[in-house]
Amino acid sequence: MIFADEIYMLNGKKILLRSARADESQMLIDYLKTVTRETRFLMSEPDEIHYTKEDEEQFINEHNQSEDSLMILAFVDGEYAGNCSFESKSGSRRTKHRAGMGIALFQKYTGFGLGKLMLKRLLTVIKNIGFEQAELTVVGNNEKAYHLYKSLGFKECGIIPNANKYDDGTYADDIFMVLKFYC
Ligand SMILES: CC(C)(COP(=O)(O)OP(=O)(O)OC[C@H]1O[C@@H](n2cnc3c(N)ncnc32)[C@H](O)[C@@H]1OP(=O)(O)O)[C@@H](O)C(=O)NCCC(=O)NCCS
Repeated sequence: MIFADEIYMLNGKKILLRSARADESQMLIDYLKTVTRETRFLMSEPDEIHYTKEDEEQFINEHNQSEDSLMILAFVDGEYAGNCSFESKSGSRRTKHRAGMGIALFQKYTGFGLGKLMLKRLLTVIKNIGFEQAELTVVGNNEKAYHLYKSLGFKECGIIPNANKYDDGTYADDIFMVLKFYC
């Protein structure tokens, strides 16, 4: 799906939300390497990001052309700030009503409401195209993200203890959260 350009003002900053273009593949790879270095709350270590420009271009095109997935990029005063996305859990007809989603911003663009704005827009799209629930996984001590998801209506529904083991030998849990649009 394509997310048509939307412009907002937030904290005195101009926010542009839009889909990615295929020629932004290197920008997205560099972003992944940076955000995985900046936080322990994402799915991998920076040295595990091995996507090629071609892989990333395919990822962008698949999201733009698909009926049931979407990636929204955010730009703050013209600078790329991060993205959020969803994909259908459509391995079979039984799971087609579920959308999995995620978000990551560069640290310098956190803490002034951008994440909440992006997730509200993403959730509106997910609901409007007919998904019955949105799902995500958050690392146990990611209090900011957990608070944000709760404030959007997500409910905690399970924990995998020690799901993440870091290079320094410490662990963190994974928490599963679900937002049901129709109860
Ligand atoms: C998590 C993330 C998407 C949140 O986006 P953000 O723009 O920083 O968050 P916002 O400013 O929109 O809102 C955060 C909310 O958490 C609150 N908050 C901030 N710090 C907090 C903390 N330490 N504990 C609890 N709540 C906190 C804010 O007050 C705000 O709540 P409110 O809307 O009720 O006032 C962003 O910080 C990020 O990308 N972090 C790095 C990657 C990451 O953790 N991704 C999520 C993986 S599940």
